[in-house]
Amino acid sequence: MTLKVVAGTAHPVLASAVAEHLGLTLAACLVERFPDGEVQVELREDVRGADVYVVQPTGPPAGEHLLELLLLADACRRAGCARITAVVPYFAYARQDRRVRGGEPVGARLVADLFGAGGFARVVAVDLHSAAIEGCFGMPLEHLSAVPLLADAVRSTVSGNAVVVTPDLGAVKLAERYARLLGLPLAIVYKQRVSGSEVRVRGLVGEVRGRAPLVVDDMISTAGTVAAATTTLLDAGCLPEITVVASHALLVGPAIERLRTLPLRALVTTDSVAMPVSVAVPAAVAVPVRAMSLAGLLGDAIRRLFADQPLGDLVAPG
Ligand code: R5P
Repeated sequence: MTLKVVAGTAHPVLASAVAEHLGLTLAACLVERFPDGEVQVELREDVRGADVYVVQPTGPPAGEHLLELLLLADACRRAGCARITAVVPYFAYARQDRRVRGGEPVGARLVADLFGAGGFARVVAVDLHSAAIEGCFGMPLEHLSAVPLLADAVRSTVSGNAVVVTPDLGAVKLAERYARLLGLPLAIVYKQRVSGSEVRVRGLVGEVRGRAPLVVDDMISTAGTVAAATTTLLDAGCLPEITVVASHALLVGPAIERLRTLPLRALVTTDSVAMPVSVAVPAAVAVPVRAMSLAGLLGDAIRRLFADQPLGDLVAPG
């Protein structure tokens, strides 16, 4: 069986890097829009009998990227591929994993069902908002983690007086992993979401006075969570030397403006979604952004899956 890597338009740079890591080039395909805005895809390479991996994070605009992914899967399936895997470094709708109010959908479940309808045999994702989302999927979900990569990236800059801080109760397990890997204590900021872009801090547990915080989260969207946590930590007497670590940096809405106002030493993240142009240009943000590439992690995972080998250390602990 041959191995093929296919990409939509969400992140061709990462997809190409993954293919390169595997010693391949991306399978030729067209992904465009019809004049009425419909997504048009067409494979321009034979995938019959192949083990196909479609690399497509569902970062903004999530709906467009999701539909491209599903149409690519349908095209591969109808072209006779043997098996098709969705490689979704950032999985959108993961935060809609339960109903907070009665009138809401369970978006994560619906999107997981769409992956099944698209014909995917398996899904590969990185640092999902909640590991429990696995239960939404009818097919196997391989949940990889960028935490070791990110912990290594900050290790040399972390001093003995640092403290790992989770800005959200939902990220406590994630923060515990960073604390363990870096040998640091842990503090917890308890936040309450007011709206899609606004949060309110309800409390802080742990000692941060005189310490340099390492604020860790699964993702930064509008940076409201990071901004609220930073203000709380400064009020509590932490050093104005704050590093933010997040697996996914969407940086939408007011995110850049908010980050500019914070005394951040660095924002360390991955390339799970394509960075907005305003961030890719370093002068646009006062805070240095370091995006560690997931190409090696994803490429290694694909290589092992293709060879039916266990993913071992690549997988997020349960
Ligand atoms: C929330 O539950 C997540 O772990 C993140 O804290 C949140 O999604 C970040 O969003 P924002 O940057 O918009 O506050």
